[in-house]
Formats: sequence, structure tokens, C-alpha cells
Amino acid sequence: MAETLTVVDKLKTEFRLTDKTMAHIALDFKTAMLTALAKGSSPLKMLPSYLPLPSGKEAGLYLALDFGGTNIRVLLVELFGDGCYTVHAHRQTPLKDSHGRYDYTSPQTTAEELFAFIAGQIGKIRPSGKDILLGHTFSFPSRQTTLSDAYLITWTKELQTAGVENRNVTDLLTAALKHHRLTRIHPIAVINDTVGTLLTSAYTNPHTDIGSICGTGHNTAYLEPSSSTLINMESGNFNQLPLTSYDAALDAASEKPGAQLLEKCVAGHYLGELLRLIVIEMVESGLLPEMQQNKNVRVPYAITAKELSLLITDRATELNGGLSSRERIILKEIAILLRTRSAQLTAATFYGALCHIDPNHESRHHIAIDGSLFEKMPGYADALTATLNAFDGRLAGKVSIGLTKGGSGIGAAIAAAIAGK
Ligand code: BGC
Repeated sequence: MAETLTVVDKLKTEFRLTDKTMAHIALDFKTAMLTALAKGSSPLKMLPSYLPLPSGKEAGLYLALDFGGTNIRVLLVELFGDGCYTVHAHRQTPLKDSHGRYDYTSPQTTAEELFAFIAGQIGKIRPSGKDILLGHTFSFPSRQTTLSDAYLITWTKELQTAGVENRNVTDLLTAALKHHRLTRIHPIAVINDTVGTLLTSAYTNPHTDIGSICGTGHNTAYLEPSSSTLINMESGNFNQLPLTSYDAALDAASEKPGAQLLEKCVAGHYLGELLRLIVIEMVESGLLPEMQQNKNVRVPYAITAKELSLLITDRATELNGGLSSRERIILKEIAILLRTRSAQLTAATFYGALCHIDPNHESRHHIAIDGSLFEKMPGYADALTATLNAFDGRLAGKVSIGLTKGGSGIGAAIAAAIAGK
């Protein structure tokens, strides 16, 4: 017991971030933003979206395709031009069948097969007999040349479909729609989900100038004051971070070692895996004997962020079902450490961004966030807000953080409306 506690104390020293460390991270993040804006070498990609903030008056009926990971969503959205909108229809489809019948995310699938499947899903929602503009939220690092042309730089979130990297995803989508005889659907805008979240919040709240996803993946966009353009930072690739041996092990075994280090520390896709790597080490040192037989502990990525949430509230899960209360307490402590570090690192990057946007903290700012961690993980939103406020007393009352649920999809419709003007 004493030995296990020592291990937990050691984990605390590794995963807890001091105020000084967080201040360093925020400053390094701001410097990385400035370097990238000046076209220097930086972990941040700072990709221009070719979009300003919306006026709130955008109106009309649009199709939105939300392609963010292993699920795609197609929505038929009506914008009313007064900050209000309604979703007339929506359809969510996995790109990977849970019974193993198909998998459009694997390296054995081609870009054409993937986009043919997506076009088929769009066809099931489109209003018949009418021309309609489509906004596409494509939530992967993409170099844009115009509002409607985006080239995938690299897959993230462990997607591996062959032949999409370096290709124009709008061309791929347009060709697939044509193949399905869906020629009345016109892809006109492509955006990142962080930009979509920012647009959706800004449609009703003019103080919004930061949009972020804290979910399966992680990334942040903001309104660059010098150009009034929304910029997708691809902040998940930020790498000036105090990494633990578990982060290094996760990274080494990932699809792209060395890439997306911030995302690997903070995003839902990875938090369960970090917990599993810690637990494995403890099991192998004989410290968690009851977990020896637990099959999830041996399977990479078998532990999910949802499981972490259940551990935090200590409700029975498959993972802790047969455990003693001592072991449950330990798992809960580890889950809380991982959640808190994720929120702290994210808050540090927000503070870095705010210091660039408004160095003297004079104006009001709203940070719009979408994603399962922020929405659902117990204590996550509170830890994020508290950490951000603790950076600087001047932020209180000036900076707000809130959930913009479904912002990535609605944002695609708003982008299509801006593009169609
Ligand atoms: C992608 C970003 C995206 C984020 C959230 C990351 O893996 O690189 O483009 O915004 O996930 O979905």
C-alpha cells in the first residue's frame, strides 16, 4: 500500500504543472504564434481560413458536411439572418463499421472510395430538385489556397485512408458528387472545425474571437487582429511541453511519432491510453494485483475518455468493476491528474493566444469550445476556466468560455453563406 502511494505521489509530481511551468508554456505558445506569422519555423501551422467573422445576417438553406474523425455528419441547416438557425435534417454515419464490414479510415481504402461513401451519405439528405451550396468542415490540418480549396497536409487522429494527403479535398468531394449525379450540390467553402465553432458562436456573440475543440482531437483557431482573418493554428502540434515517460511511450507507438504532441497530452483520443500505460506499469511492478486479469489493460486504446469520466465520478465501469476500494481510489486519482493536466495545458495556450490578440487585456473576449471533454468530462470545464483566470487578474469579467455545441457543423453552413454572398 505504502509503495503504491509513493508511485501515485511520483505521478503527481510528473503530471501536475506549477504556475511557473504554465506561464512558460503560455509564453512559448505566444512566441510560436508570432514566429509562424512571420513565416519562421514553428510547430504552429497558422493556416489562413480566408474568412472574416460573420455579420450574423447570413441567411438561407445550406448543406453542411462535418468530417471530423471516424464519423461524418451531414446536416441541412437554415440560417435566419438574425443569429438564429435550425437544423432541418441530419445524419451521422461511422466511417468504420463496428462489425468490421467496412473501414474507410484504413490505409487499404482509397481517397476515391472514401469520398464516394461520403457523397452517398450527402445524397440521402439533400433537398431534391434544387441547387444548394455546401459547406464542408474538414477537421484535419489543411493548406487552403482559397475559401473553397483545401489540401490535406497530413492526417491526424490516427486516420490513414490512402491518397488523400496533399490532395484538394474539395476536388475529391466534387468528383464524388458528380459520380453520384449530385451535380446540384455545390461545395463552396471548406473550413476547420475550430473555425466552424468560432463562426457559430460569433454568429450570435460578437465578442467571440477564439474557437477551440476539446474532444477526441484538440486544436484552436482565432481572429488575427492584424488581418481580420480567422486562423486555424493547428495548436495540437505545439510541442514545447514538459513530457512524461508515458507521453513519450504513447508518442513512440503512435501512427506519427513526434507529431501532435500537445494533442497527445490533452485530447480525448489519447487520455485513456495514457491511463492504460500508467496502469500497465503499475501492474507489471505488482502494484495493482487485481488488474492483472483485466483484458482492457493489455489492449492499446481499449480505455476511452468516457471510461476516464466514469473513473472520475467513480461509477462502476468494466475497468474498476471488480476492484478493491483502494485500487479504485488510485485509478480515480490518475484519471483526475490526466484531466487536470489536459485542462491546464489547454488554458495555457488560450492565455498565450490572448496575450497576442490583446496584450494589455483591455477588451472582452469569448472563447467558444466544442467537444466531448469540455462538454461531458466532470470538472474539465471548471478546471479550464479556473486555470485561465488564475493567469492574470485582469481577465476576470473580460474573458468568458462557453460550450458551442455542434458548432463545427453549423459553422460550415455559415461559411457557405459567407462564400455565397
Ligand atoms: C486536427 C485539427 C482539428 C482537431 C479537432 C486535430 O487532430 O489536426 O485540424 O481541428 O483535431 O478536431
